[in-house]
Amino acid sequence: MCGIVGYIGKRSAQPIILGALKRLEYRGYDSCGFAVLSNGKIEVFKERGSIDELEKALSGVNVGGTVGVGHTRWATHGEPSRRNAHPHTDCKGDIAVVHNGIIENFQHLRETLAAEGHVFRSDTDTEVVAHLVERYYNGNLEEAVRRALHEVKGSYALAILHKADEKIVAARSRSPLVLGVGDSEFFVASDVPALLEHTNRVVHLEDGDLVIITREGFRIENGGNVVPRKMETVLWSIEDAERGGYEHFMLKEIHETPRVIENTLATHLRDGVLGGVDLDLDVPQSSEILMVACGTSFHAALVGKYVIEELASVPVRVELASEFNYATTPLSRETLVVGITQSGETADTLSALKRAKAAGCATLAITNVLGSSVTRLADRIIYTRAGPEICVAATKTFTAQLITLYLLALHFSSIELAERQKMLKELRRLPTAVQRVLDAEDEIKEVSGRITSYENVFFIGRGISFPVALEGALKLKEISYIHAEGYAAGELKHGPFALLTEETPVVAVVAPDRTYDIMLNNIKEVKARKPPVIAVADEHDEEIEKYVDFVIRTSHVEPIFSAITNSVALQLLAYYAAKERGCEIDKPRNLAKSVTVE
Ligand code: G6P
Repeated sequence: MCGIVGYIGKRSAQPIILGALKRLEYRGYDSCGFAVLSNGKIEVFKERGSIDELEKALSGVNVGGTVGVGHTRWATHGEPSRRNAHPHTDCKGDIAVVHNGIIENFQHLRETLAAEGHVFRSDTDTEVVAHLVERYYNGNLEEAVRRALHEVKGSYALAILHKADEKIVAARSRSPLVLGVGDSEFFVASDVPALLEHTNRVVHLEDGDLVIITREGFRIENGGNVVPRKMETVLWSIEDAERGGYEHFMLKEIHETPRVIENTLATHLRDGVLGGVDLDLDVPQSSEILMVACGTSFHAALVGKYVIEELASVPVRVELASEFNYATTPLSRETLVVGITQSGETADTLSALKRAKAAGCATLAITNVLGSSVTRLADRIIYTRAGPEICVAATKTFTAQLITLYLLALHFSSIELAERQKMLKELRRLPTAVQRVLDAEDEIKEVSGRITSYENVFFIGRGISFPVALEGALKLKEISYIHAEGYAAGELKHGPFALLTEETPVVAVVAPDRTYDIMLNNIKEVKARKPPVIAVADEHDEEIEKYVDFVIRTSHVEPIFSAITNSVALQLLAYYAAKERGCEIDKPRNLAKSVTVE
């Protein structure tokens, strides 16, 4: 993971780099640093911790210079510390390198370089790049970088400075990198929000691209040839990437859900198109759909399985991408493989799609990020329209994924027109239904107080509410550090019952569907073991309060859409629990939003 930036122009580089790094902190925040070219010297500043800490350490000093690179880190090789923070330099301190990715053959390179006399000062894989560039530097930085990269195996987005050149050389291979084009100034960054304050004109670099950037312009090469790349105008605004008065990005992003649903529907619903859904996809001849994803996107896929099987009667298999990549499960060419990844950069999901392509399967990606790696890999893309999501814990992008999966199910479905129109009407009602959940935020906040003092919480559900329970548990554990487990309600008695006491609250996600009665039985079984039970239930459910201690009411929707309203309620529950526990909500410890390593 990690985030990198680079700036070259006429303005002072340091504040631009630090500002951009703050917008990339979601990618990693255990240490950070930057380097600027100032009076013919490379000046490097690093700190353990966040950009705020680095700024504190600088105590208002601006080192000057109009060319620089910066980095915010999520440690892979070497503990988080100042010495392992980027930029890394060569022996003489003439070259500075920032890197996102992993140099897989770094051990071998390090030994060879050390034997040649290069002295290493960190435990990172990245430092070998600085020494390799040093080895090949002969007055021409891009040539030295080209030769260095020839020896490197692995993934990288790199930005490199040399004290003798007013330029940045950047390169990309399997880690995201965008070039920002301003007026007589240029930027590189791991992600678009880092640039939005300065420009909305970007070029998404491709694997194998090397870009040489000076104040006069840039040149992109690939495989030794100059290549044209399309300049795109980003539609996200800087406001989209700011907190806008909310205490945390997470709360802001949850509150954006109604708009996100509207935008995603507006993009894919069209009057006059058969059945209203316009995904520009052939209805698959496939006998099976396989979905691959990680983390929250995996939970979206599990909801998708339920919805597609229900509405389109196509069997759907869901695999964790990280497991699928090492499994020997046979893959039929008839299978449509759907990769779900909000960032479009998750290494495991990309590898899973590559495996599917190699097996001759048709591939489809659902992603939120235009120009991300997955968009260049999959045969077809469906974009969600969630806008930038800064909080590490996914919320609005999850909901947007669910909306897309409902649309996909309707697209593949042959249900009767009247039924289809009813579904579409319900989908269009969802922004209002979610807004009502948000309006009842204070009640959810109050209920969250019932779990904050416990160390273990179970989340249970059946049918479509099972993945909702899994996601509710993931949200709570990642931001509040309360140990939470999501379970299929019927499975609790096969082991976890041994853990149930007055000290283990159970959150039951209850949908008014065919699982309702059996879910009530499961709740009764739980209650008999004394845990406090909180239900998340439909506002019209009059039975539920007889069986549980507290109820979070969610707006009434068709049961198949309850995954949306209930998930939003659980996101708020996690948020307020984490807030009460004083957690660092937007940047939970040890996590990163974009996981570009397997
Ligand atoms: C990281 C993030 C999660 C996310 C997962 C998959 O772990 O912290 O929020 O769900 O990656 O990310 P993707 O971009 O593939 O959806």
